[in-house]
Amino acid sequence: MKSSLTFADQKTPTQTPSSSKRTFVAVLLLLYLLIIGLDIFRLKTDLEPRLTQQALEWQSAIEKANQPEDGKKDDNCNLNSGRGDGTWFGMTEEDRKVFFGEDPWSERDTRSEEKEVGYIKYIARRVAVNDTVVFIPTNDNFIELAMNLECSLRRQGITNILFWALDAGSNFALKARGLPVYFNPSLYGTSRCVNYHAPDYNRMMRERPKVWKWFLQAGINFLWMDADISMLGNPFKALRYDVDLEIQSDGQSNLTEWVIAKGGPAPNPPWGGCAGLFHLRSTPRSIKIMQEMQSLMLRDKEIEDQQALGTLIGNKTLTHIVGSSNANNDPPTLREAKEKGLFLARFVDPRKWVNGHQLNNGVELDEGGSGWVWKKDGKVMRLETPLAVHANGMTGKKKMFESRKAWFLDEEGRCQM
Ligand SMILES: *[C@@H]1O[C@H](CO)[C@@H](O)[C@H](O)[C@H]1NC(C)=O
Ligand SMILES: *[C@@H]1O[C@H](CO)[C@@H](O)[C@H](O)[C@H]1NC(C)=O
Ligand SMILES: *[C@@H]1O[C@H](CO)[C@@H](O)[C@H](O)[C@H]1NC(C)=O
Repeated sequence: MKSSLTFADQKTPTQTPSSSKRTFVAVLLLLYLLIIGLDIFRLKTDLEPRLTQQALEWQSAIEKANQPEDGKKDDNCNLNSGRGDGTWFGMTEEDRKVFFGEDPWSERDTRSEEKEVGYIKYIARRVAVNDTVVFIPTNDNFIELAMNLECSLRRQGITNILFWALDAGSNFALKARGLPVYFNPSLYGTSRCVNYHAPDYNRMMRERPKVWKWFLQAGINFLWMDADISMLGNPFKALRYDVDLEIQSDGQSNLTEWVIAKGGPAPNPPWGGCAGLFHLRSTPRSIKIMQEMQSLMLRDKEIEDQQALGTLIGNKTLTHIVGSSNANNDPPTLREAKEKGLFLARFVDPRKWVNGHQLNNGVELDEGGSGWVWKKDGKVMRLETPLAVHANGMTGKKKMFESRKAWFLDEEGRCQM
């Protein structure tokens, strides 16, 4: 103390006004750095033991949440999904700032549709190519599948991938991996390992048409892909972009009519299209159909998203399905349908975009190495390697992907390019 006073005294006679100003600024700066330093130290010492201790609580919260709500055992629920890093539960705002830095949009008004469309423009345009994103929904429980899908897309050179985090856990887990995420906490989501058709599942699905509509209104086309898909080819090279909607078939039958007749699948509303895999272009017609879908789902609380979409695609006064022999289209030509302003849809080739029913019905990768085959009734038919392998409605999804050489993550969850 004394020596610093002496030092200051000695300095005083030679000091000019500007150098005293400089000393003053330097002292302020030092004080500021000291405060910041102490603050970081306080945060660090506060945070770490608390996080370690809380990790255990989060772990058990997740394990509990991972139990299927209807008590049914489903081996999809045994995935090592998100645990350890998707463990968001109980995290405070302060903790999140330390992990993710400041999110300039965290305080946005997520309930205003107009503002949300503005935000989607901001978030989707950062990853979009040709105004298009691959849009992948996931909750914390499906992170591992979602990461496999992302890896399968990157292997095809595709980078315009945007995730929709359905819960805070997946928002955390994806952001912690540095991946682009859309997250709207005012939409309904759950971290549970929900079974297909379970009430929680349906409630989550009801938010879909609203979000799809916002993306279209933001001028974004999207390839919607449920997390239980793995890509073995580049979807953007296979799409034709001549209609509003290109959608996978959710055909329940065996492959006979597809492989032998080589035609498109019979659209069989409401189950014809698979709401888990489709490409939708941002057009006024698409926006109108999403509005119809939203109001249909508001009117009918029981209807599921795929049924609602199927009902609209199957309605000839609203939709024209291209290239379908028995869709009984009226008007019959694409040009006339365009003139009438109908929503235009097409089913993608079911031999290249394989769904869960097909995978359950003998479409597999032959272990002898002869490639993809369809085995049925003792007969074997060779198939080309599909573009998309979609495990919709299947249990044991990861095992299925592994057996079809469509699982690309190593044991640590790293993408094998
Ligand atoms: C973007 O559009 C261009 C021109 O139509 C096309 O050549 C390119 O393949 C498209 N990129 C993707 C990723 O679809
Ligand atoms: C498969 O589908 C074809 C055509 O729909 C039908 O004739 C045949 O009986 C079916 N076979 C089996 C085993 O389901
Ligand atoms: C088809 O859509 C029109 C217009 O929304 C509606 O009036 C009609 O009832 C629908 N038809 C069926 C079979 O749902």
